Amino acid sequence: MCDAFDGRLTFYPGNQTVILPFINLMKKYGTVFLNAYTNSPICCPSRAAMWSGLFTHLTESWNNFKGLDPNYTTWIDLMQKHGYHTQKYGKLDYTSGHHSMSNRVEAWTRDVDFLLRQEGRPMVNLTGNKTFVRVMEKDWQNTDKAASWIRKEATNISQPFVLYLGLNLPHPYPSPSTGENFGSSTFLTSPYWLEKVTYEAIKIPKWPPLSDMHPVDYYSAYTKNCTGQFTRKEIRDIRAFYYAMCAETDAMLGEIISALSDTGLLKRTIVIFTADHGELAMEHQQFYKMSMYEASSHVPLLVMGPSIKVNHHLSNVVSLVDIYPTMLDIARIPVPQNLSGYSLIPLLAEMEEDEVSSGRLHPTWILSEFHGCNVNSSTYMLRTDKWKYIAYSDGHSVPPQLFDLSADPDELTNIATAFPEVTHFLDKKLRSIINYPRVSAFVHKYNKEQFIIWKQNLGQNYSSVIANLRWHQDWLKEPRKYENAINRWLQMNTNE
Ligand SMILES: *[C@@H]1O[C@H](CO)[C@@H](O)[C@H](O)[C@H]1NC(C)=O
Ligand SMILES: *[C@@H]1O[C@H](CO)[C@@H](O)[C@H](O)[C@H]1NC(C)=O
Ligand SMILES: *[C@@H]1O[C@H](CO)[C@@H](O)[C@H](O)[C@H]1NC(C)=O
Ligand SMILES: *[C@@H]1O[C@H](CO)[C@@H](O)[C@H](O)[C@H]1NC(C)=O
Ligand SMILES: *[C@@H]1O[C@H](CO)[C@@H](O)[C@H](O)[C@H]1NC(C)=O
Ligand SMILES: *[C@@H]1O[C@H](CO)[C@@H](O)[C@H](O)[C@H]1NC(C)=O
Ligand SMILES: *[C@@H]1O[C@H](CO)[C@@H](O)[C@H](O)[C@H]1NC(C)=O
Ligand SMILES: *[C@@H]1O[C@H](CO)[C@@H](O)[C@H](O)[C@H]1NC(C)=O
Ligand SMILES: *[C@@H]1O[C@H](CO)[C@@H](O)[C@H](O)[C@H]1NC(C)=O
Repeated sequence: MCDAFDGRLTFYPGNQTVILPFINLMKKYGTVFLNAYTNSPICCPSRAAMWSGLFTHLTESWNNFKGLDPNYTTWIDLMQKHGYHTQKYGKLDYTSGHHSMSNRVEAWTRDVDFLLRQEGRPMVNLTGNKTFVRVMEKDWQNTDKAASWIRKEATNISQPFVLYLGLNLPHPYPSPSTGENFGSSTFLTSPYWLEKVTYEAIKIPKWPPLSDMHPVDYYSAYTKNCTGQFTRKEIRDIRAFYYAMCAETDAMLGEIISALSDTGLLKRTIVIFTADHGELAMEHQQFYKMSMYEASSHVPLLVMGPSIKVNHHLSNVVSLVDIYPTMLDIARIPVPQNLSGYSLIPLLAEMEEDEVSSGRLHPTWILSEFHGCNVNSSTYMLRTDKWKYIAYSDGHSVPPQLFDLSADPDELTNIATAFPEVTHFLDKKLRSIINYPRVSAFVHKYNKEQFIIWKQNLGQNYSSVIANLRWHQDWLKEPRKYENAINRWLQMNTNE
């Protein structure tokens, strides 16, 4: 499982931009999902959904600080209980209590009536030379550990095993040059990886004028420091460097596949490749994720192994909550009834007619939701056949969005008002899955309560601490104004 990998790079036409040999190998010898989505486009809530098999609002994984309890029973814990030898390396990031203070305070204060730049401006940095491979050294070390575990341990155990490897790539890197409390806005790679990118195939995304942006998108673009001027070259470079980082990620997947192949384990091992969310890489005038647009919410999902269909492309919409029941199904562990996800095995496996599982069939929709920073409203996406419906907040104070992905794959034309029947139908469907106005109100209340506790704990240090978070450049220009905006928000009725 990697971080921030745009799933559309695993199939046409996204796969024209960068050479991903091991993803292609998994496609050739396995199954690729053409419509796999995150259940929440940010690290911790997404991973909480993947490890629990439950939607974000059911585990109350509201932001990067609020995920699962550390003692939560995940699918890997259940597999261990059922006799699997389990091993985890690298990034996990699904439990509460992590990430920067800026990150959580930005999430709690998203309803405050102010607009502050919170991130460094996205930029690129080319390092090393044409032989420099291990740019993300930490990920390579974890990959080495996992590969070495396969070679030394997995070959010498009698039990079945499950190995999890979490990578940080292709997540952008910290930008220390933007000063203290910097965010992660640097796309860093080496000439070695950049050579894998086909510059001519890079699409420069179309940006509508700022004044035409959906208000919540404008808040995102502004807080991500993307509303300034960007040249075509800058945008193309950011995208190229991002794709190069994806190529480096693919090579790590390759190390794992090679270790399995060399040890003879590949023919009896199921390999799954996915990511927690995507990366906008300047689509919709933003970088990072937190958005329901394809670049941010569409994840890769490839599965290869014994009994898995070969060279198979599945267009069913699926999401990360499906991993939990799928893993249990692979291990033949009974799947609990109350999960949000569905086993993908009936879609994936070559089965005899009489073997076809009588289990629950995956519905034709998926749900994604977002409640964290850089977006000033809770967001809910229902994705079903060609439609993407995005509802906000209480369902009426922020205009919803509707995209026809078959006619408008770049999601440039919101047709919610042009197609009122479809919008009404999808909104009703969404409300049958989640009482989203109630969830939004709950998150409002939670955010304010958390903020008040945090403020009280800081005592007289509050003013200086809040001024020096990631937004300090803007805050320090008018500290009174921003503190007053917070005070007005704190005095407001929580149910507003
Ligand atoms: C891209 O993927 C399509 C199928 O989705 C495949 O036919 C094509 O060969 C791939 N191209 C490259 C360059 O990998
Ligand atoms: C997990 O820990 C929390 C406290 O952090 C506790 O309230 C809860 O009962 C524990 N759950 C389990 C399943 O052990
Ligand atoms: C936002 O970008 C500008 C350049 O466009 C830069 O000067 C500034 O430091 C950035 N703000 C933050 C908070 O990083
Ligand atoms: C570019 O990356 C290198 C290697 O990580 C680092 O030493 C350097 O400071 C970075 N440059 C900028 C401008 O961020
Ligand atoms: C590339 O960089 C490495 C490490 O700095 C150096 O050892 C090597 O000689 C360089 N290779 C070329 C072709 O410049
Ligand atoms: C394989 O496992 C056995 C039993 O656990 C152990 O004694 C042996 O040292 C292991 N061999 C290697 C090469 O790790
Ligand atoms: C979000 O922020 C934008 C930009 O400041 C503003 O126009 C919009 O009203 C805000 N939306 C909500 C729901 O607060
Ligand atoms: C799901 O069911 C199990 C028992 O089958 C129970 O322990 C668990 O709390 C339930 N989870 C939810 C979210 O209802
Ligand atoms: C305020 O900051 C000072 C200096 O860093 C520290 O010693 C003190 O404990 C802080 N007070 C509170 C209430 O956090």
